[in-house]
Amino acid sequence: MSFRAAAVFGLATLQGVTAHLAAYTPGMYCPQNTYQGPLTNFSDPNHVIYDPLFNLEQDSWFLSKGRNCWLAPPTGVWEIQANSVIQVPWANGQNSKGYYADGKEQNQRPQPFSVTNPAVVAAGLVSSSGGINSPNLHAGNKSTAAGTAVAIAYKSNIYDVKMEDFVVFTTAPQTPFERLVTYDIPNLKACDECLCATVWIPNGYGQQNMYMAPHKCKIVNPSGGQQPKTPSLVPGPNVKGPKQMIAAFQASGNNVQWKNGQQVPTYTSRMGFTAGAQTDIF
Ligand SMILES: *[C@@H]1O[C@H](CO)[C@@H](O)[C@H](O)[C@H]1NC(C)=O
Ligand SMILES: *[C@@H]1O[C@H](CO)[C@@H](O)[C@H](O)[C@H]1NC(C)=O
Repeated sequence: MSFRAAAVFGLATLQGVTAHLAAYTPGMYCPQNTYQGPLTNFSDPNHVIYDPLFNLEQDSWFLSKGRNCWLAPPTGVWEIQANSVIQVPWANGQNSKGYYADGKEQNQRPQPFSVTNPAVVAAGLVSSSGGINSPNLHAGNKSTAAGTAVAIAYKSNIYDVKMEDFVVFTTAPQTPFERLVTYDIPNLKACDECLCATVWIPNGYGQQNMYMAPHKCKIVNPSGGQQPKTPSLVPGPNVKGPKQMIAAFQASGNNVQWKNGQQVPTYTSRMGFTAGAQTDIF
């Protein structure tokens, strides 16, 4: 192994330990994790697609714009079949492998994979905030994983979308935990060029933050399907109907206000979301 290869390998290994997570699809912006072009004006101190969004201005957190990811366009399109079940890796690099996001198979991690299992503690897999640290899952075990979601805007120009254009169409409870996350897709109307966003609000186990990554997506639906209504509704307890994504913990643009000590606004029934395909969006 050359020195450079060794150095790159070392860096990748280090990132594997400290990294958080993002959904890797063929249509993702920042497919190489960062914008690799000539600009050096990253507006955020953390500028990797899988890093958390925290205390940022709206222009920076919205669809991870401050990471310059809009300047690193997708190399493909994320094709989603309506009325199906899809699997998406939540990881910290392309072509990830393994049962868990750190590339380990299930039999390479103590079971139950929980911080309450002494074998997990002994293996050094617990972070200072009490969660699994490899990668930082913001969860102590599967049942404490907060849930992720996917939203869509029936628009194709990323410079022309707003929070109000995106409607959450599916949630996956107790994710991310294992690498592959399963999403149920409702009867979405076909769309050749749409924008999707993969979102996650962890429930504690570290600083409260959020994840919101943009993707070019295409909805395939031979039977037509329905276009979701524009979500005028901000998520909240008992809110029924098409809902926006959640914006919280930021310096500006929050649509959900959160104070320390309050329940975290996760993509769950807490904020009016059902598990799986959202059927109240049409
Ligand atoms: C970085 O600078 C370029 C050139 O001035 C500008 O077009 C771009 O919007 C900037 N990016 C961010 C994220 O501010
Ligand atoms: C998961 O974590 C919760 C909270 O710490 C704990 O109550 C539960 O027993 C854990 N589950 C397993 C399987 O260890």
